[in-house]
Amino acid sequence: MEHLLRPRTVAVVGASRDPTKIGHVILKNIIESGFPRERVFPINPNVDEVLGIKCYPSLKEVPYEIDLAVIAVPASIVPRVLEDCAERRVKAAAIVSSGFKEVGNVEAERNLLEIAKKGGVRILGPNIVGLIDTVVGLNASFLPYLPDRGGIVMVSQSGALAAGLLAWTKLKGIGLLDVISLGNRADVDESDLMEFFSKDVHAKAIALYLEGVENGKKFMEVARRVSREKPIIILKAGKGWRAAEAVKSHTGSLAGSDAAYDAVFKQCGIVRAGDVRTLFDYALSLAMLPDPKGENVVILTNGGGAGIMGADACEEQKLRLMDIPEDLASALRKWMPSFGSVLNPIDLTGMATEKEYYGSLSVLLGDERVHAIITLFSHPATLNPMNVAEAIVRCVNKVKGDKPVVAAFIGGKECEDATRFLIKNGIPAFDTPERAAAALATKYRYAYYKSRPKGKHLEVRVEKDKAYGILAKALREGRNLTQSESCELVSLYGIPTPKKIVAKSLEEALSSAESIGYPVVLEVESPDVVHKTEAGGIRLNIKDGRELEDAYYGILKSVKEKAPGARVEGIVVRPFVREGVQVAVGMHRDEVFGPLIMFGSGGALVELYRDVSFRVAPLTDVDVDEMMRETKVYHVLEGFRDAPKDVRSVKEVLAAVSQLSLDFDVISDVDINPLFVYERGCMAFDVKIMLKGSSLCGT
Ligand code: COA
Repeated sequence: MEHLLRPRTVAVVGASRDPTKIGHVILKNIIESGFPRERVFPINPNVDEVLGIKCYPSLKEVPYEIDLAVIAVPASIVPRVLEDCAERRVKAAAIVSSGFKEVGNVEAERNLLEIAKKGGVRILGPNIVGLIDTVVGLNASFLPYLPDRGGIVMVSQSGALAAGLLAWTKLKGIGLLDVISLGNRADVDESDLMEFFSKDVHAKAIALYLEGVENGKKFMEVARRVSREKPIIILKAGKGWRAAEAVKSHTGSLAGSDAAYDAVFKQCGIVRAGDVRTLFDYALSLAMLPDPKGENVVILTNGGGAGIMGADACEEQKLRLMDIPEDLASALRKWMPSFGSVLNPIDLTGMATEKEYYGSLSVLLGDERVHAIITLFSHPATLNPMNVAEAIVRCVNKVKGDKPVVAAFIGGKECEDATRFLIKNGIPAFDTPERAAAALATKYRYAYYKSRPKGKHLEVRVEKDKAYGILAKALREGRNLTQSESCELVSLYGIPTPKKIVAKSLEEALSSAESIGYPVVLEVESPDVVHKTEAGGIRLNIKDGRELEDAYYGILKSVKEKAPGARVEGIVVRPFVREGVQVAVGMHRDEVFGPLIMFGSGGALVELYRDVSFRVAPLTDVDVDEMMRETKVYHVLEGFRDAPKDVRSVKEVLAAVSQLSLDFDVISDVDINPLFVYERGCMAFDVKIMLKGSSLCGT
């Protein structure tokens, strides 16, 4: 990876003298980016020299060690070039050429990987624009220029988008460290890059544009580790494309395609950006700001409107605006007219100049009770925004590294210039208070993630052999589990389900009811009676033996009358389940990340309310706690307008479903809905388990 991303020597294979060809442009970019000419080797069998540099007919003829070969020849020639790389012991190749997996040539791409693996060559691409490295000063791409140097690593699965993003960051004054086009990811993928940059001292944040992840397990393992050292921000496109597929379970239809990514990002401490703008807003904040030492945020403004918008944005982002103590208020009053305000937002008024900004900001930066500052500025005719920006930079530099300061300058061209100046000087700056508050809040959330405990994996003891037996039988018969098999399976994992005994006589029914405990339900057991209520085949809430006897004979009589000829195999005795708070617990196996566990409000309207959250198994205690807290029904369990319910018992069910899904990957979906939660304990009332490839899947 070092050879690929921090090369000392570079060969360009396909270096043409024709200025319109990509091989020519890449060579020219490498030279113009300041990379030493004597360490660049153009390769082309047809010419002796390109752009004044000696050209070699093949990699094999180069008499120097080559770290990186950038390959820009047609796809059909690439395997041969790669073999030369292997023979010549070139450690890394960036393959620009298109014409592989992206157009269906899967076999050709597999062949590349095989050659590379055998020869010990790492491949970036194919189908990429190349890479830019500002540390060694190298533009090995056909992107038009180097970015401004900064601490953000930008990785893009789409090459064309990388070009757009580069131009965008240039315009905004955002500094980048590396720009890497990922392309088809035949070998090097986003996880390898995260791993590499976690150890790079220059990299302060890793911003990625991704359309999808292929190796979910590796991604989670790497991201979880790296994000505790370096912030990772991902803009993940393609949110809904798989959601349209027919999905069989409730959990599956609620998950769609995006829930797994959302869950994985949360579990791994990855900051998710919704669009290009937020990708860089968050990257700026995470790359530049020191960790806040506490929750007290102060807004400094020269206009009431901006201040109020800022306060609203803080509330929305769950940032805590500090109550200003009297001694701090009187220190601030010195920097405002009598009609200013020392309530937070602190309003210096439209009279404020750079002097007032500097003075009041110094007071805030010097006060240990203040932990983060949002500086807002609305452009009045009397003041040049750049003067204020310079004052902020001077003031922050004085106490460098102490506390996070973000800014929003609202106005036209002059404010845009001031914003760019602030960014170039290490202060995340934006054009609206909302963006500034969101960027600061992201820093808080990331700081929380870094400090949160890693969590313990929840293990459940089970009799796996019995569980295996139930599944094997259904698989042999090519069907999903029946309701009673599903109940039996989950009960082996410790999930309480209603007990059910089939009694063949009144005596058996009475003793079953005694063992289950009253109240009970009696139900006819018959393969011929589908609608039990209509056939009078069910009696609820039976409180004692006398009522049971009546019910027992009542059912037999009424089934005989209403469903003549129906086979009666016995009378089922089960407990009369009280309704508790209805929650749903489920699992849908995601093809990239594995079992996706769901928790949320239960009942018939789960899909309508969508009060659900997801995490990928194996779950830790932290995952379970966080996923439950994300839902509204959690507040009901905690005792919203009623007695608190047994949250712990639900956590045990989540742990059990997680374990069951990991133990048997033949299970595609689990739906427990409703799970009734009581003040003590819970009960899985309805359980459905579906198997992969089962012909009855979804019925
Ligand atoms: N070693 C070195 N150079 C070789 C060679 C070899 N074995 N065989 C041929 N060449 C030379 C060619 O002679 C040519 O040089 P010349 O102009 O002096 O004749 C040069 O390599 C390039 O080959 P050419 O056949 O002219 O291809 P090209 O430049 O038109 O296209 C690619 C090559 C790689 C750019 C093109 O195939 C491609 O994939 N384009 C898409 C790139 C892209 O968009 N990537 C993804 C972005 S998201």
